[in-house]
Amino acid sequence: MTAETGTVGVDQIGIYLPHRVLPLDTLAAARKVPTEKIHIGLGAYQMAVTAPWEDAVTLGANAAARLFAQGQVKPEEIGLLIVATETAVDHAKPVSIFLHDLLGIPNNCRVFELKHACYGGTAGVMMAADWIRSGAAAGRKALVVSTDIARYPLQSSAEFTQGAGAAAVAVSAQPRLLALDPISGVYAKNVYDFWRPLDKREALVDGKFSVDCYLDALAGAVADFCAARNRTGDKNTAPLYTQLAALLYHTPFPKMAYKAHLRLLESEWQRTGTQPADAAAAAARSYAELVDPWLEASRKVGNIYTASLYLCLAWLAERAADRFEGKRVGLFSYGSGCCAEFFTGTFVPGSAQTAARIGVADLLAARQQLTVEEYERLARDGTNGGVPPSGDAAFCHLAAVRDEKRFYERNGITG
Ligand code: HMG
Repeated sequence: MTAETGTVGVDQIGIYLPHRVLPLDTLAAARKVPTEKIHIGLGAYQMAVTAPWEDAVTLGANAAARLFAQGQVKPEEIGLLIVATETAVDHAKPVSIFLHDLLGIPNNCRVFELKHACYGGTAGVMMAADWIRSGAAAGRKALVVSTDIARYPLQSSAEFTQGAGAAAVAVSAQPRLLALDPISGVYAKNVYDFWRPLDKREALVDGKFSVDCYLDALAGAVADFCAARNRTGDKNTAPLYTQLAALLYHTPFPKMAYKAHLRLLESEWQRTGTQPADAAAAAARSYAELVDPWLEASRKVGNIYTASLYLCLAWLAERAADRFEGKRVGLFSYGSGCCAEFFTGTFVPGSAQTAARIGVADLLAARQQLTVEEYERLARDGTNGGVPPSGDAAFCHLAAVRDEKRFYERNGITG
């Protein structure tokens, strides 16, 4: 078998977001926290909230159904289905096998669930790209679905950084959206910054330490990226950010992307000896140009763990792929625990047409606002299944949990 030649990358993205949203100024008022701390200190404005009939399976299947509904990728083309999640529904039976069934993907498909906190989605995309480059795909495509519900205890400071949603990424040879460069930089280290013991529904976190771990991992992954690039004989010594049209960071809360970009600038200035006289002004300009415009969806959805980076990518693609065709962007994925990866990709000709079908803005606009009381009730009720009201109808929902088994129903409507 020969390896696939040519580019490998993201063929299409499908995004799904819950229909319910909580404005964070109302939560701030209820928790007696200044709204500015949330809007300015964290950069967060709203968070997506799930209903009892939504779990990692339904969010992920709905994202994939929206991808297939765009008409460019078909279930019968998928030879590898990876579901990345840290909100699994069973210790043994993987989320991926439910998606395989609901979406009508062929039996001759490798199917599994993947976990490394928020890094799982990128681990899946990298594995999928390597599967295609190796030739094992033999013309088929991979589907990598990142799906999560970020839950922290009510009344905790992390409560403001919750969220929920999913991103389905089809990876193929001859991608129609983003060609992935084969070089990336990685960083891994055993740290206890964020974790969720097997018997707990909400995550535990050492919040301030987790921010430091994220920033150290970013510096480590970027250093490894530059070293890998040098090994290929690439003698380009200009700072990395000057060679990129945008930088997308894993976004647990939008201010984290700001902190990340500052760290990247500082380490690149140091590496290349190019620190400007007015570093603060240069950093503000660089952030406003390369990072801030792509955080809008995250501001209104919250942390969606494995899918967070891919929501930023979808938002950029949808808003600006016409300006980005032929341009290279940088992506940074971080998963607590920790593992991180920095990689790059180039928007291919025609990507604006592909991106126009993703529809994140429509999903955001169609949501129903909750009161704090409604949000707290949903958080306490948990995920036991039910029948969504007609306005909520998506491709599938969790109908019931009986005899410790989960039963999903397809509505046949893609929404
Ligand atoms: P906190 O206790 O709310 O934070 O926790 P704080 O007191 O540090 O305040 C936050 C910011 O608000 C600070 O700004 C304050 O100055 C500012 P900073 O110093 O950071 O620039 N502030 C104000 N600004 C304006 N007006 C005011 C005001 N008051 C304060 N009146 C924390 C924040 C992020 C730690 C918490 O929300 C948390 O624990 N979140 C969850 C953990 C997390 O998201 N960590 C991020 C890195 S780890 C990661 O990304 C992985 C993850 O996605 C999981 C996975 O991999 O699976 C989480």
